[in-house]
Amino acid sequence: MMKPLASLLQEVPPSPTTTMMQRGRDLKAAGKDVVSLAGGEPDFDTPAHIVAAGYAAIEAGDTHYPPSFGTPALLKAIIEKLKTENNVHHIAPENIMVTPGAKWALFAALAAMLDPGDEVLLLDPSWVSYGPMVSLQRGVPVRVPLASDNQFKVSADLLERYVTPKTKVMMVNSPNNPTGRVLTRAEIDAIVYVATQHDLYVISDEIYEHIIYDGHRHYSLGAEPGMAERTIIVNGFSKAYAMTGWRLGWMAGPKAITGLARIYQTHSAQSAASFTMAAGAAALTGPQACVKEMVAVYDQRRKLVLDAFDEIPGIECPPVEGASMSSQVHQHEEEQSGSDAGIDR
Ligand SMILES: Cc1ncc(COP(=O)(O)O)c(C=O)c1O
Repeated sequence: MMKPLASLLQEVPPSPTTTMMQRGRDLKAAGKDVVSLAGGEPDFDTPAHIVAAGYAAIEAGDTHYPPSFGTPALLKAIIEKLKTENNVHHIAPENIMVTPGAKWALFAALAAMLDPGDEVLLLDPSWVSYGPMVSLQRGVPVRVPLASDNQFKVSADLLERYVTPKTKVMMVNSPNNPTGRVLTRAEIDAIVYVATQHDLYVISDEIYEHIIYDGHRHYSLGAEPGMAERTIIVNGFSKAYAMTGWRLGWMAGPKAITGLARIYQTHSAQSAASFTMAAGAAALTGPQACVKEMVAVYDQRRKLVLDAFDEIPGIECPPVEGASMSSQVHQHEEEQSGSDAGIDR
C-alpha cells in the first residue's frame, strides 16, 4: 500500500477550459469540423513584427537563462505602458515580475499574499481558475454573488456583506471573463472604497483591457487613490497580441509583494522564456494598429452573435462590453423549464 498523495490536489478539479480545449483538439485530430470556443483563445496568429522579434532573439543566441524577473527591455516597456495607457506612475523595475503567462502571475501574487485560512473575495461569476488558485494557496475563496438580472453590478454594500476579519484580498477582473462586463467609474469607486476601508489587497487582472467595445473605458485599479500600496496589477500578452502560446505575462505592484513573489518564482518557474520576452517588448513598443484591427473583428463577430441571440424567443443578451461573450446570455426565469433550460455560463 503506497502512502496517500497530496489531499489538496485531489480535492481541486482540473481547469474545465483546459479540459475542453483538449477535447476540441482531440475532435479536430479525429477529423471533425470543430470551432472551439472553449478558451479565451484569439484565432489570429501573432502579428508578424512580434514573431520576427522572437525569431531574431533566437537567432542572436538569446537562448540562455534570462533575468528571472524580466529583461531590461521588457521591464522598461511595461513601465512605459503603465504610464501612458494606465496612468500608473509608481512602478519601477523592482515593482515588476515578468512571468510565464498571466495565470502564473495571479498564482504567484496569491502565494505572496496568503496565509492558510485567509479569505479572498471573488466577484462571482469569476474566471474558472480563481477559486482553485486560492484553494491551492490554502486560502478560502469567498464568492460574492453578482446578479445576472442586475447586469452583474458591483456595489460597496454588496461587497461589504462578505468582508470578515479574515478577508485579505479581493480579485477583480475587468473587462471580465466570463460576464463580459467592464466596471464603470462608480463600480471602481466602490471597490476602492471597500479595499481602503477594510485594508484589503487587490489583484487587478487587466488582461482583457484592450478588448473593449462601444466606447466603454478601462480604469486600472493601480491608478486609483490609496490603491498603489495595495494593488497588484496582472496583465499579459495572450489576448491583446494573440500570444497565448508564447506564455508571457507580468505583475506590477508594491515591492513588498513582488519581492515575495520573486522568491516564489526563483524556486519554481524561474522565469519566462528569453526570446518570448524579446517578442513581448516588441509587442509593447511596436505599432498598436494590429490590436485595434483584431478587436474590430471581434466586435463584428460579437454583433453577429448578439443579433442571432436576439432572434431566439426567451433569450435575453445584454450588450457585451468587453472580454469574452459567453455568459451574459440567460433565459427568462419563467421560461426555464426542464433541467437544461438555462444557457447561463
Ligand atoms: C481572466 C483571465 N485572466 C488570466 C488569464 C491567463 O492568461 P495567460 O494566457 O497570460 O496565462 C486568462 C486566460 O484565459 C483569463 O481569462
